[in-house]
Amino acid sequence: MVVSLKRRNGLVDFFYWIWDGMERTVFIGTKFSFPARFVSPFGFLGMLTFVIFIILGITGALLMFYYQPILDRAWDSVAKINDTVPYGFMIRNIHYHASNAMVLLAVLHMYYQYFSGRYKIRNEIIWVTGVVLGTVTILEAFTGYDIIFSERAELAISIAASLTNSMPVVGPTIRDAMFGSGFADFILRFYTMHVFLLPIVMLGLMAVHMPRFLVFDVPMVMAISGAIFLTGGVFPVDLGSKFEPTVPPGITVPEWYLTGIYAFLRTQYDKFVTGVLWPGIFIVAIAMTPFIDRYKKFSWKDRPIVTAFGITGITQVMVTTYWGFYITPDVTKPLVARLVIDPIFFYLIMLLLVPIGFGFSYMMILLAKESERKAKLAASKGPHKASPINLSGKWINWLIIGLLAFQVYLNIAAYNAALSGMKNFALFLTGLILMVFAGLFHLYRHGLNEAKKIPTPSPAEPESPKPLDSKESPSLPQ
Ligand code: HEM
Repeated sequence: MVVSLKRRNGLVDFFYWIWDGMERTVFIGTKFSFPARFVSPFGFLGMLTFVIFIILGITGALLMFYYQPILDRAWDSVAKINDTVPYGFMIRNIHYHASNAMVLLAVLHMYYQYFSGRYKIRNEIIWVTGVVLGTVTILEAFTGYDIIFSERAELAISIAASLTNSMPVVGPTIRDAMFGSGFADFILRFYTMHVFLLPIVMLGLMAVHMPRFLVFDVPMVMAISGAIFLTGGVFPVDLGSKFEPTVPPGITVPEWYLTGIYAFLRTQYDKFVTGVLWPGIFIVAIAMTPFIDRYKKFSWKDRPIVTAFGITGITQVMVTTYWGFYITPDVTKPLVARLVIDPIFFYLIMLLLVPIGFGFSYMMILLAKESERKAKLAASKGPHKASPINLSGKWINWLIIGLLAFQVYLNIAAYNAALSGMKNFALFLTGLILMVFAGLFHLYRHGLNEAKKIPTPSPAEPESPKPLDSKESPSLPQ
């Protein structure tokens, strides 16, 4: 369903003019629909991921004005962006938190597609390109946090270089091509990959991944963007310490989407097996899903084995992700002893998770099916629909006015916070502005739908009967 903006003004006309002009372009080969009422965001998580990609592109381009991909200046240039460049703090925080949001949304999008079996409707190409896109998204985020060249980045680069090197036959050649022969080469190469090569690859993949019909829900896009700004205000990203070759390395952990692999590496088992082979098998297994899943039905409840495998996989990912973060707090122990994870214990847990996770999920699915059957039976015995919240037109108007006034207040407050140097607070308030806008838009859309429901008197209605002449009226019994 499409919202019709009947009441046109100069600005709306201008947008229509642009939209109509694009009608003849490839861009419109893709059809967007703007939902006229609330729809669950699960079905358009991919679109939300794409929107974050655009936010990353814009903020990344702004960061390029000041960032210097030079070995001994990279960290200082980021510190300058963070501390002195006007609005640099905001742009850097939005860029960083958007990168996390993009990885998270892509993962959620993948799992939704997995459990709803959407890869079945001749979507195999979309699924496989999605897997590659997800992997490249993580590489993109990884190259981003490396080019700051903090202590943590240096550790990540060294690990990545030695993993690449560990690959049989092609390893050393790929390492030389990707990392060059030293940190000075590396920083320029990773920068090129981060700002140009990988985004181009992603755009190319998106061209074959995104279906023709896309849902663009303005309030949800605003809410997600608002959440990113808000998080930036409350949890501003750390700069870390500048890498100094003379200072011995401390303990650092990578970003959350890599701590799973880090846990495997910390078992100190063969580098190639833990850091390249296992993740490789995991990615290929996900890519193969549409070709393995032979169930005819779509719902997760009707595909118990596939669903139970998915849940087992999620459990393993969550356990390893947490394990990668966890470092014994006992500082009296030597560094290596705190970092190393006992491989026997680790692999034993991983193996045990398979029957436990699978068995438990399988049982839960059977229970869910049974309760669904009972719910259907109960529903057939009578309607039990929960009553929705109904707001009258007057209340909707008052709420819209209230939210508009709040928007004005928030804008003034954010502007003042920015002027007085309260960067975190300004970013937080900007996030709130976007979220309130999301609410406002949703309410306005709801109001339009409610207005459509009010019945108008039809002109064809028969005229109301004339009052009877008192003389003609039958006498009522006394
Ligand atoms: C990383 C960036 C990604 C972007 C920007 C992206 C974008 C999109 C978009 C815009 C759609 C249309 C439906 C929607 O909005 O949700 C879509 C659909 C789809 N995506 Fe993704 N996606 C990404 C990653 C993935 C991954 C990792 C997978 C799975 C491995 C995946 C699998 C699918 C499938 C199967 C559909 C078809 C849905 C349907 O037609 O019902 N995507 N994607």
